[in-house]
Amino acid sequence: MIKTLIVFGTRPEAIKMAPLVKELKKDFHFDVKVCVTAQHRQMLDQVLEIFDIKPDYDLDIMKYNQSLFSITSDVLLRFEKVLEKERPDIVLVHGDTTTTFAAALASFYFKTKIGHVEAGLRTYNKYSPFPEEMNRKLTAALCDLHFAPTKRAKLNLMAEGVKEETIFVTGNTVIDTLKFTVKEDYVFKEDSLTNIDFSKRIILLTAHRRENFGKPLENIFEAVLKIANEFEDVVFVYPVHLNPNVKDVAHRILKDHPRIKLINPIDVDDMHNLIARSYLVLTDSGGLQEEAPSLGKPVVVLRDTTERPEAVLAKTVVVAGTSKERIVEIVTKLLTDEEEYLQMARAVNPYGDGEASRRIKDALLYHFGESSKKPNEFRGSDKYV
Ligand code: UD1
Ligand code: UDP
Repeated sequence: MIKTLIVFGTRPEAIKMAPLVKELKKDFHFDVKVCVTAQHRQMLDQVLEIFDIKPDYDLDIMKYNQSLFSITSDVLLRFEKVLEKERPDIVLVHGDTTTTFAAALASFYFKTKIGHVEAGLRTYNKYSPFPEEMNRKLTAALCDLHFAPTKRAKLNLMAEGVKEETIFVTGNTVIDTLKFTVKEDYVFKEDSLTNIDFSKRIILLTAHRRENFGKPLENIFEAVLKIANEFEDVVFVYPVHLNPNVKDVAHRILKDHPRIKLINPIDVDDMHNLIARSYLVLTDSGGLQEEAPSLGKPVVVLRDTTERPEAVLAKTVVVAGTSKERIVEIVTKLLTDEEEYLQMARAVNPYGDGEASRRIKDALLYHFGESSKKPNEFRGSDKYV
């Protein structure tokens, strides 16, 4: 059996690792253990519950308004003990959080093989997104196997000297998750969602990036306020991230507007079906830039850079930055120019076909000599390079 230790800590990592946990657990070749760092507590537990994942280890590291220093050192020290106990054949990490990097570093110190899911995303700007761009570069340097979601991500890795035979283009596992969560006849669980007037145009908003704390976040919220005041047929729905640097500012600037609904973080199935019923998405999130295009919803990215250029090339995502005027200008255009809107509102799938977890499993079987068949690659992203 291939002793596989899967580690993650935040909401998006859990959403994207859940289908892989399920896929590997179904296969008798794998002995799967799950370790959560709980870099997020409530937002992680929400996901674990939906997917019925009961971690074998919970490092329980989250502190109020935690620093990068405390996350890194707590994960490093506590994960060492799990490695000592489990002695896995391979550790699987995901993406670019500080959990990802610290768990990969600990695994390297332990001389354990490491596989990186969602490998190869880059902006080539050290501080944008911060600290994610460096987290994923440093993680790549530590890893033995790289599961790139797209062709572009594979090329990024090769340009950094990563050997081609260690890279597998799999598609993004988030599309596997979407197949599980989105349903036409879905009924929302949250009262905060059932009460929304869906006869109006819904703009879904999320924001949480560290480089947007302070003035950029204030600009974003002032733009939202202006748009809400100008368009009476629009309702903003904003599940506010629990980070106090976001939550406090959001409530200060946006509270009490009749058409801006500030709600608590919602379950991922509610969220995915909310995207499906929205008109437009405004976000600085990474995951939403993948989910919304797959569901045919235009995305306005509230950041200066994106590591997900595929949907920008496919013209369903536009990078707005964080200037109030620019955000208002782009959103106004999409609310008033139907042709422009319809050009962006097309379902494109440069990020996956729902088979990413299966391809990662096949790549692991191939790598460990359990299968002689190299997994087929996801080709849907080939033209977006
Ligand atoms: C983290 C990741 C970011 C990822 C994001 C997904 C790092 C450095 N950042 O950012 O890459 O995009 O998660 O959401 O790895 N909090 C709670 N409960 C929760 C979650 C957070 O109270 O369930 C509060 C805590 O006060 C915590 C703070 O939010 O200290 C910040 O959490 P942290 O994981 O450090 O940063 P995020 O901004 O969530
Ligand atoms: N999400 C969710 N509930 C919410 C907000 C977001 O389930 O209230 C999901 C969203 O659909 C996506 C993921 O969380 O799958 C994105 O997380 P986040 O924006 O926090 O992180 P990022 O993707 O930027 O790392």
